[in-house]
Amino acid sequence: MSGTLTIDGLDAGYGRVGVLRGLDMEVRDGEIVAILGSNGAGKSTLLRTISGLIRPTAGRIRLDGDDVAGKNPEDVSRSGLVMVPEGRQLFAGMTVRENLLLGAYAERRRRSVVQERLAQAHALFPILEERADQVAGSLSGGQQQMVAIGRGLMAGPKVLLLDEPSLGLAPAVLAQVFDALRALREQGVTILVVEQNVMMTLALADRAYVLQRGEVVIEGTSEELQSDARVREAYLGFTTAAAAG
Ligand SMILES: Nc1ncnc2c1ncn2[C@@H]1O[C@H](COP(=O)(O)OP(=O)(O)O)[C@@H](O)[C@H]1O
Ligand SMILES: [Mg+2]
Repeated sequence: MSGTLTIDGLDAGYGRVGVLRGLDMEVRDGEIVAILGSNGAGKSTLLRTISGLIRPTAGRIRLDGDDVAGKNPEDVSRSGLVMVPEGRQLFAGMTVRENLLLGAYAERRRRSVVQERLAQAHALFPILEERADQVAGSLSGGQQQMVAIGRGLMAGPKVLLLDEPSLGLAPAVLAQVFDALRALREQGVTILVVEQNVMMTLALADRAYVLQRGEVVIEGTSEELQSDARVREAYLGFTTAAAAG
């Protein structure tokens, strides 16, 4: 299953307010790519635009060569670009299983496909099977994030888009979530992840882009970014002198 996301000259924003400016980005099949940047840089706006919630004012968004810019969110998801939104956005009063099944709503008549994907989500996060009948709102933050990722998997992603999956999680759970992303990459799912947890994310990702005011200001492999003085100063708390010494 292929999944290469290519973004060219993307402009998008809210009404007349432009946020993204001429953004170019590529996430190749089988990669984990991170988007880093401070609050308000435009990271969520980018993911919302890719997933069809915001219509771009210019540029192209292609999945394996097919332009998805301007499609509605359901069609974008069906094409294989699947979003795990910021803040999880589960149905708190519905069970874990019901939340997961909603992710496969487009495939609801294909029972074997739905069962296969459910098994895949359970294999990745066994707790989701143990808690299948529990209402999602009663789970811990980490478990809710697992439901949100599991629901994304239920849609059969080629490229999974995650908006700050580590937000508010305790370190142990966070490590579990990041391990799951590594496992998904092994299974061939391409991943684009927005994060503020720079250190852990560069250890996970193959490549990363740093956004600032809607523009890419730094891009490279994770190794390159880990040794980039600008990244170390702005995000890792090193001064240039400390980095040099
Ligand atoms: N719904 C919205 N309406 C208008 N402006 C918004 C909206 N959401 C975000 N913005 C603005 O767009 C810019 C980028 O925000 P966002 O994409 O959420 O940044 P990030 O996810 O990197 O923190 C910010 O200036 C923010 O105030
Ligand atoms: Mg955001």
